[in-house]
Amino acid sequence: MAMVAAHVTIRRARPEESRAVSRLFGALHGHNASLDPRFTLAEGWEHWLREFLDHERSHDHSATFLAHRVDEAIGLAIMDGNVDSPLYRHRHWAELVALYVSPAARGTGVAEQLMEAGLDWAVGRGFDRLQLYVTAANEPARRFYARLGLRPTQEIWATDLPAPSMHPPRHDDHINEPAFARGHHVLSVSQNHLHATDQEEEPTHVMTP
Ligand SMILES: CC(C)(COP(=O)(O)OP(=O)(O)OC[C@H]1O[C@@H](n2cnc3c(N)ncnc32)[C@H](O)[C@@H]1OP(=O)(O)O)[C@@H](O)C(=O)NCCC(=O)NCCS
Repeated sequence: MAMVAAHVTIRRARPEESRAVSRLFGALHGHNASLDPRFTLAEGWEHWLREFLDHERSHDHSATFLAHRVDEAIGLAIMDGNVDSPLYRHRHWAELVALYVSPAARGTGVAEQLMEAGLDWAVGRGFDRLQLYVTAANEPARRFYARLGLRPTQEIWATDLPAPSMHPPRHDDHINEPAFARGHHVLSVSQNHLHATDQEEEPTHVMTP
């Protein structure tokens, strides 16, 4: 049972707090990359994150929360909305895109508070499902999510292939590449999600309550 974190406030990140978001986001992905190098962030990732945050402020399709202890940002949670193909009856789901608590603040309930803020946001937007991706080797995070009642529903299986003979390898993705070129306003890439947002003036994954 986590002890109550003293003097911790959770609230939406403000425009002037982009550096704190970036610091925590970078630390999260440094951690993820230490578990699986495939999650290493690309050169210039800060640009894409800034774009995501700018888009969030103008479209409100996602929500970025910071946990503060006194003046220091010690935790980050990012929520986003996803929409799958019209092929599926249940298409809309909220995604926890990022969750990170500074090492010194772990085991104090901050992560749980961040999750509560994220869940409130998701419920308030009309989502009836929260999903997230977690690296299989990330045992502490898996224990944390399990304690909150989340359960694995699918597994991603992968194998490495021989190094590509073409540089860069061909992707032939005429639908999604323009969305990237135009501005990458999703952090977690789902083909259908990108396709949907590319076809619409306004993102279709925003669910107004
Ligand atoms: C995942 C993460 C956000 C969870 O936050 P957390 O603060 O570590 O989670 P908890 O509050 O559940 O506490 C973690 C540990 O402290 C323990 N703990 C909690 N309260 C405690 C207390 N009062 N005294 C001692 N230990 C305590 C918990 O039992 C838990 O240990 P366990 O996992 O070995 O059982 C955090 O570990 C983190 O940022 N990790 C790196 C980034 C990451 O992996 N993000 C998720 C990517 S999907």
